[in-house]
Amino acid sequence: MAVESAGTSVAERVRAVIEAHKGERGALLPILHGIQAEFGHIAPEVVPMLASELNMSRADVHGVITFYSDFLAEPAGTTTVRLCRAEACQSVGAERLVADAEQVFGVKVGQTTPDGSVTLGQVFCLGNCALGPAAQINGRMYGRMDRARLVELLVRAEGGEETA
Ligand code: FES
Repeated sequence: MAVESAGTSVAERVRAVIEAHKGERGALLPILHGIQAEFGHIAPEVVPMLASELNMSRADVHGVITFYSDFLAEPAGTTTVRLCRAEACQSVGAERLVADAEQVFGVKVGQTTPDGSVTLGQVFCLGNCALGPAAQINGRMYGRMDRARLVELLVRAEGGEETA
């Protein structure tokens, strides 16, 4: 998402989102959600524009984007995997699962595989605490997740199968 090099269209779309929320209290979050909804991610090139429009430092804008795991810095992969790392899931092996997932996909949490097939994300409680480790694959909830099941579900997702 090259804001300036793409002519005015991308910049105009970003500006329209900013204008829609600029007067609100705590406008940055709704603006970020709006940009992510518009483009599927929040490109680093947008940060200076937001900082200038909202009278914030670039570091502050960047800090908010990186604090919330919902915001992506690059387009999401075909399959999005979000693993819960909150306390209840941690107590039943969430960190092991995160390490396994990072090894299986060859990316760190927050990254997308180079072929664009999988984005690995984290979340802090999916409301499925009794069935941890909990995971979400393309928005669908799974409990008692482990490495083998994760791989199996992803193979099925890549084959276009329902991952139920
Ligand atoms: S702590 Fe993982 S779903 Fe609640």
